[in-house]
Amino acid sequence: MYTSKITGLGKYVPENTVTNADLSKIMDTSDAWIQERTGIKERRHIKKGDGNSTAIMGAKAAKIAIERAGIAKEDIELIVFATLSPDYFFPGCGVQVQDLLNLPTVPALDVRNQCSGFIYALSVADQYIKTGMYKNILVIGSENHSGGLDMTTRGRSVSVLFGDGAGAAILSRNTEEDNTGVLSTHLHSEGAFAKELALIGPSTSHWVDQIIVEEKNLKRDPKAPIDYYPYMNGQLVFKNAVARFSEVINEGLVANQLTAKDIDLLVPHQANLRIAQFIQKKFDLKDHQVFNNIQKYGNTTAASIPIALTEAFEEGYIKKGTIVVLAAFGSGFTWASAVIKW
Ligand code: ACO
Repeated sequence: MYTSKITGLGKYVPENTVTNADLSKIMDTSDAWIQERTGIKERRHIKKGDGNSTAIMGAKAAKIAIERAGIAKEDIELIVFATLSPDYFFPGCGVQVQDLLNLPTVPALDVRNQCSGFIYALSVADQYIKTGMYKNILVIGSENHSGGLDMTTRGRSVSVLFGDGAGAAILSRNTEEDNTGVLSTHLHSEGAFAKELALIGPSTSHWVDQIIVEEKNLKRDPKAPIDYYPYMNGQLVFKNAVARFSEVINEGLVANQLTAKDIDLLVPHQANLRIAQFIQKKFDLKDHQVFNNIQKYGNTTAASIPIALTEAFEEGYIKKGTIVVLAAFGSGFTWASAVIKW
C-alpha cells in the first residue's frame, strides 16, 4: 500500500477587509462583543465586481499549491473540492476548477461537510493515493460566505463570524520510505443535530416560491431565523465542538501510538478562538504549538484549515519531521482529525 503526503499548499483571500467596526455600522454589534466571544478582529468579504467566487478563489489557491508542489497541472489526476457555499446548486465547484485551470479531463468530486470539509476531502484523496489509483490530487476548501449572510441585526449572531477565502493542497504519492506523510484520518458525523447549524433553503424540500409565500404571510417574530440564511444554535455547537475536538484528536493520537506531547503543531478549524484555547489547555500545548489566524479571517469553514496550514508553512512552523494535527468540528454535525508527519 502507498502513503500520501502534502507537497504543495496555497491560499487566496479577497482584498476587501471588513473590520468589526465596519459591521457595527450596519448592525447592532461591537468590536468588544465580537473579540471577547470569538477572537475575530476582521474578515475578508468578496466585493461586488472583484471577480471572485467560490470556484474562482479555489482556482487561485490551487495555482499556488500546484506551483509549490513542483508539478505540472497536467499531473493532477483528481480534484476534490470542499465547500458549503458553491457557486451553483449544481454542478459542483470541482468541475469549474477543472475548467478554470484548463486541466485535462480529470474527475472532479465535491465534498459537502462544512467545517470538517477539508479533512474529509483530504481523507478521500488519501484513500485514492493509498490504493495506488492516483499519484497527485488537488484538494481545495473554499467559501463565499458573504454572498449568503443576513447582514442585519437579526443575523448578527452568525454573520459576524464568517469570512471568505480559499486554501488548497496537493496530495501526492509518497516516494520516500521514511514514515512521513498522512499518518491517519478519522471522520465522524451525527445527523441528529443537522438542523442545529444549517441553511435549510432554498432546497428541494423548501423551494424558493415556498419561502417567498412564508415571508409574505409572515406572522411570526421578526427576530426569528429565516430559512434562507444560516442558523446556528451557538451554545449547543460550542459544547459539542469542545467535546468532539478533544475526542477526535485523541483518536488520531492513539491510532498512531502518540501522545499530546508528540504534537508539534495543532492546526484547528478556525471556528472560535475560545474553542481553540480550550483545546490548547486540555492538551497542555504552548502557544507556538497551536496555529490560529481567525483574528484576521473569521471562520472560513472548509477553507479555514488549508488557509491556516498554508500560513503556518509560510511562517516556518512546519519543517521536515514536524508532527501536525488537523482537527475540525462543524455543521452536520461532522467532525474529523488528521495526523501528518511532514
Ligand atoms: N453582537 C452583539 N451581541 C450579540 C451578537 C453580536 N454579533 N450576537 C449575539 N449577540 C447577543 C445575543 O442576542 C445574546 O443577547 P441576550 O443575552 O440579550 O439574548 C447575547 O449576545 C449572547 O448570545 P449567545 O448566542 O448566547 O452568545 P455566546 O456566548 O453563545 O456566543 C458564539 C456566540 C460566538 C456564536 C458561540 O456560541 C460559538 O462560538 N459557538 C460555536 C461556533 C462553532 O464552533 N461553529 C462551528 C463551525 S461553523 C460551521 O460548521 C459552518
